[in-house]
Amino acid sequence: MMSKAIVFDAYGTLFDVNSAAEKCKDKIGDKWENFSNLWRTTQLEYTWLRSLMKRHKDFWQITEDSLDKSMKVFEIDMSMKKELLNLYKVLSPYPEVKNVLEILKKKNFKLSILSNGTPALLNQLVKSNNLNDLFDDLFSIEEVKTYKPDSKVYDLPINKYKIKPEEITFLSANTWDVSGGGNYGYNSIWVNRNKSQFDNLDYQPKNEIGNLSQLLDIVET
Ligand code: LAC
Repeated sequence: MMSKAIVFDAYGTLFDVNSAAEKCKDKIGDKWENFSNLWRTTQLEYTWLRSLMKRHKDFWQITEDSLDKSMKVFEIDMSMKKELLNLYKVLSPYPEVKNVLEILKKKNFKLSILSNGTPALLNQLVKSNNLNDLFDDLFSIEEVKTYKPDSKVYDLPINKYKIKPEEITFLSANTWDVSGGGNYGYNSIWVNRNKSQFDNLDYQPKNEIGNLSQLLDIVET
């Protein structure tokens, strides 16, 4: 596969969005996973709704707003809010991430993140997990103040690298983001970690992988 740049989504693809609530599961109890899923889906809905309403708030504010609602729904003591937010700043990467990025870096691939996260959040995420040296660029939607899957977001690496969309290999675990990038023209690969179903949004990825290690077979052929 000819790839001039490998671009990764951040949340859910490189970093486990459930790891914040999971680290508090003793305090939250068995409902921690359902609560975490609601937090994530509400967060994403707010990104889409704010883009459509043209009422931008950055991803950190949206993360707090969606947490607030989800804590109320699951009747979680508001005193935990600060702890959950602090853990969200240092989400854990999936186990294979560092090793795969190191191998790709040694092979001289250009590696970047393209994410809804603010520049400060993305910097903190990669630094706290010792991944900062592995990326050429951290592209944040804050440059265009609208969220994925607006094509203005997918323009960002194209404008910087002066390459064609199909020369980008884009990886996301979020089906709608795979479709967003794919419809834009990227070669989008779906990281299907949980054996889920794909969406019906006019794009079918040529490649589907269970985790990022399998990317190594694809980019080498
Ligand atoms: C991101 C969200 C979509 O990192 O996971 O952009």
